[in-house]
Amino acid sequence: MITRGKKIYEGKANTIYETNDPNLLELESTDRISAGNGEKRDVVEGKGLTNNKISTLLFKLFEKNGIPTHYVCDGTNEHSKVVRKANMIKLEVIGRFITAGSFCKRYGIASGIPFDNMSFELCYKNDDLPEADPFISPSAAAYGLHLATIDQLEDIENYTYLIGLVAKDFFAKFGLTLVDFKVEFGIDVETGELILCDEFSPDTCRLWDKDGKSFDKDVFRKDLGNVSETYKKILEMVDVQ
Ligand code: TMP
Repeated sequence: MITRGKKIYEGKANTIYETNDPNLLELESTDRISAGNGEKRDVVEGKGLTNNKISTLLFKLFEKNGIPTHYVCDGTNEHSKVVRKANMIKLEVIGRFITAGSFCKRYGIASGIPFDNMSFELCYKNDDLPEADPFISPSAAAYGLHLATIDQLEDIENYTYLIGLVAKDFFAKFGLTLVDFKVEFGIDVETGELILCDEFSPDTCRLWDKDGKSFDKDVFRKDLGNVSETYKKILEMVDVQ
């Protein structure tokens, strides 16, 4: 049986604990929420539960579709899961189906325009730079900064397309359109395998209903309404499945 050990990391939204197995960790989704580079912060009652539930459902679906993930089993409470320990690759991997967010700002294009196919972007995960998490090309990431090998980056790209398709179908069942998302990968410390880590939740993607209303962290980022109610509605949607 897996038991929880000492806390080893407290991130913006998740807390990580050691376990009695050196190759496994426990990841707890908390109710903490933040935006920007952590300048805007709050606590949203129920968010940890919602995010853990959605992320767990999706990670199980990803595994079924051939994407290796860090998910092992449910954790010691409803907010947490047991995951494989990994050396994280310092990249934020973004997939987009519809224009929104920084894409619109960067390229001066209106929000809500569908892409012909999913787009794939890489950002260097580094909060210490003057521009946090800047855009990076695969060759600069591999040959310049040695964040991952070029073969690993090819796998990351292929997995990200598949993740996008699986997640899009999942949310469509609840009448929600997946607009874009961010994922992170790591290298399993025991097996050396590239695995999907972190989470896939309304904190890390954009979801719009048929009227274009946001059901994700944009409600918090842009003060669009009651954040707690929004996350509760999402939980109700996925709970009936
Ligand atoms: P962006 O439009 O701000 O670049 O965001 C694209 C998607 O990635 C959106 O669903 C939010 C998600 N995202 C994160 O989860 N964390 C981040 O740090 C960033 C920049 C984006």
